Amino acid sequence: MIPYAPEPLSNFGDEAVAKAFQSALDEVSRQAGLEVPLVIGGKRVNTTRHIRSLNPSNRNETVGLASQADELLAGAAVDAAEKAYVHWSRETPESRADLLLKAAALLKRRKHEFSAWLVLEAGKSRVEADADTAEAIDFMEYYARQVGKLSARASSELFGASGEINRLTYLPLGVGVIVSPWNFPLAILAGMTTAAIAVGNTVVVKPSSQTPIIAYKFVELLEDAGIPAGVVNYMPGSGEEIGDYLVQHPRVRFISFTGSKDVGLHISELAAKVSPGQKWIKRYVAEMGGKDGIIVNHDADLDLAAAGIVSSAFGYSGQKCSACSRAIVHKDVYDQVLDKCVKLTQKLKIGDVRDAANFTGPVIDERSQRKIIQYLEIAKQEGNVLTGGSAISADGFFIEPTIVADVQPDARLMQEEIFGPVLAFAKAENWDEALRIANQTEFGLTGSIYAKSRAAIEQAKAQFHVGNLYINRKCTGATVGVHPFGGFNMSGTDSKAGGPDYLMLFTQLKLVSELL
Ligand code: NAD
Ligand code: ALA
Repeated sequence: MIPYAPEPLSNFGDEAVAKAFQSALDEVSRQAGLEVPLVIGGKRVNTTRHIRSLNPSNRNETVGLASQADELLAGAAVDAAEKAYVHWSRETPESRADLLLKAAALLKRRKHEFSAWLVLEAGKSRVEADADTAEAIDFMEYYARQVGKLSARASSELFGASGEINRLTYLPLGVGVIVSPWNFPLAILAGMTTAAIAVGNTVVVKPSSQTPIIAYKFVELLEDAGIPAGVVNYMPGSGEEIGDYLVQHPRVRFISFTGSKDVGLHISELAAKVSPGQKWIKRYVAEMGGKDGIIVNHDADLDLAAAGIVSSAFGYSGQKCSACSRAIVHKDVYDQVLDKCVKLTQKLKIGDVRDAANFTGPVIDERSQRKIIQYLEIAKQEGNVLTGGSAISADGFFIEPTIVADVQPDARLMQEEIFGPVLAFAKAENWDEALRIANQTEFGLTGSIYAKSRAAIEQAKAQFHVGNLYINRKCTGATVGVHPFGGFNMSGTDSKAGGPDYLMLFTQLKLVSELL
């Protein structure tokens, strides 16, 4: 196998690339409104209830209608996954890895088509959509290579004992439930699903109700690559209804979740209870929210810092778990950094992401827009709104990129995950205080520092308590295999997706010791 290398991002400045993308977008727009069924054991099941997926750039456009599962159908999906497990768990790691590589190759060929669905359904700009698709390819390419490494690693860690042969094997766990968010509806879904199946598990995928169509397209792609029926079952539906049911199902062995803190903790509680007939303690992998901060020291390159803050705060309208929502700046350069950030932000073009000129698109839906508007009201009480501060009256769910200055570290704006384009600034007396403010949150996902002094950098490396710490660069944009991703504290179980230990989370180790 050739070594892993991340998928290059598309250069939309190249006319041919821009044209190819536009024609994919036109084609996908023609398909919008399609109906997608559930997939249970490879069979298509149409239901009478549907989830309507809307284009966040224009609420009057339906991207698609997804059949909506109920408990009975979710139960059938668990049965199908259990049946498929018998054969899939016995496949060789190599053959499972080959199918992942095949799926990655298919996705590379259909890259613009998938990105176009992301533009329509998730409201991503073409650049953000392209990065999401590239990350999905990377997860499959990377995990395919990690599968083989697991076996090598197990044997190599055993010490020889005379008169015995000792072997460790990584076994799959069983049937898992994959619960994914809408904000990386392709990459995160692909990563969580293919990691679990790479090591021999079978799964029921419950995608986010905001983005069921792209999830269906991905499940179809896995089928096209040759993943056998029943290994991945597609089950959109309400979190409360089928989510809770699946999590509590006695024959579900593990749950892999990415989403908000509240839902993550709710699932944690449910999964901890033993259901009648259940024979195991469920494994739970949870990646949750963030309240990520960027700290700027007095000696930093201020232009670099401002560019990093604005890109981390407003890329995909601040709807990344890794997004910067707190800028903590040394008092000596506070006004300068603030001024630079405001000027850069005022240049951002906002609007329908089908127009390549727009950097900032909509937020995901009306509920999210309403929630962010409430925070804009809070912003007026907790600080000084220097730019933005309002929703935009349009058919889509747009919010102006907003900067709020002079916010106290314990203010709600500095503590609660807003998940929108709202950036709070706080002033720090010195580097110690800046680090204290940065750590003054229940989350611990990403963080960046901008500083030149070696002592300040080393102190931050030791004291800034986040799963992904970046130095003199933005706090978004982790690359698979390069920046394994996952957070501390209420940001989750720190699974480090896209890292060398991730696959192990979906396995159990068996030792066999034979006396000679
Ligand atoms: P969410 O928690 O609302 O939903 C996530 C998923 O959980 C969805 O599929 C939803 O339908 C499902 N769900 C809801 N209730 C459920 C229940 N009772 N049982 C089972 N499933 C249920 O999150 P979201 O709005 O889709 O995504 C945004 C959140 O995800 C943000 O908080 C963001 O920070 C976080 N996120 C974290 C990471 C990370 O790696 N740490 C990555 C992406 C997003
Ligand atoms: N992995 C994504 C990032 O780093 C969330 O921005």
